[in-house]
Amino acid sequence: MRVTIPDIKKKKAENKKITMLTSYDAPFTKIIDKSGIDIILVGDSLGMVVQGNENTLSVTLDEMIYHTKIVVNNCKNSLVIADMPFLTYQISIEDAIKNCGEVIKKTNAQGVKIEGGAEYKETIKALVKASIPVMGHIGLLPQSVNKIGSFKVQGKSDKEREYLINSATELEEAGAFAIVLEAIPYDLAQEITKAISIPTIGIGAGPYTDGQVLVIYDLLGMDSSFNPKFLKKYVNLELIISDALSRYKHDVENSLFPDLEHSFKSHQKPEKTEIY
Ligand code: KIV
Repeated sequence: MRVTIPDIKKKKAENKKITMLTSYDAPFTKIIDKSGIDIILVGDSLGMVVQGNENTLSVTLDEMIYHTKIVVNNCKNSLVIADMPFLTYQISIEDAIKNCGEVIKKTNAQGVKIEGGAEYKETIKALVKASIPVMGHIGLLPQSVNKIGSFKVQGKSDKEREYLINSATELEEAGAFAIVLEAIPYDLAQEITKAISIPTIGIGAGPYTDGQVLVIYDLLGMDSSFNPKFLKKYVNLELIISDALSRYKHDVENSLFPDLEHSFKSHQKPEKTEIY
């Protein structure tokens, strides 16, 4: 049975941790789904980790729809949330309903995520009224990178702290079902988590949130040059993949692959021609 939004809210009430990972394609979605992760986020981080751009700003609505459809179609158990790209919900409430609605209609995702604090209260209210579940996202907002100058920890000053605590309560009041807390001090994340009854899901926000999210490629160690303080790499896939590729190259260049074991014979009886 697929995880539902009420299931996620219940986890906080029962003091059980929530697990979330990003995914963008079929192979990783199938593995994540089988591993019992609660939520798959089709993050607009795809602009960086899949498309190789320096930020998420160029991701389009059509690209999000394309990747979210793939994830939903290859996922049987996890809740799937689609990230709304830059300028698809900021311009007006009507625009937000139209674009978020299009994502839900075309992909069958169970909800959307939007970045922003208290100033998005009315937008979230309108989306929830239109039966579009919303996951909020406060703290470091990658879509605001040009405004803030770089990807840096938020909520360090008293003013920022107050703004973030107020934003979390406003988002809850507006009807968000959960909130991502990105790159904020752990004591602030703890205070926010205690102050609201909907789940908080942290990334770079310490251990006291109701759940955690990471970008799948980051936790798998696909990029040895990406080493932020908050990231724990559970495997070094870059190394493992590079090793496999150099062994393949070596085998081909030295006529060791393919050998006859990996080749087809003529006049085999009974003839089996299906390859898979
Ligand atoms: O785009 C994304 O992957 C995200 C997560 C890191 C929360 O927003």
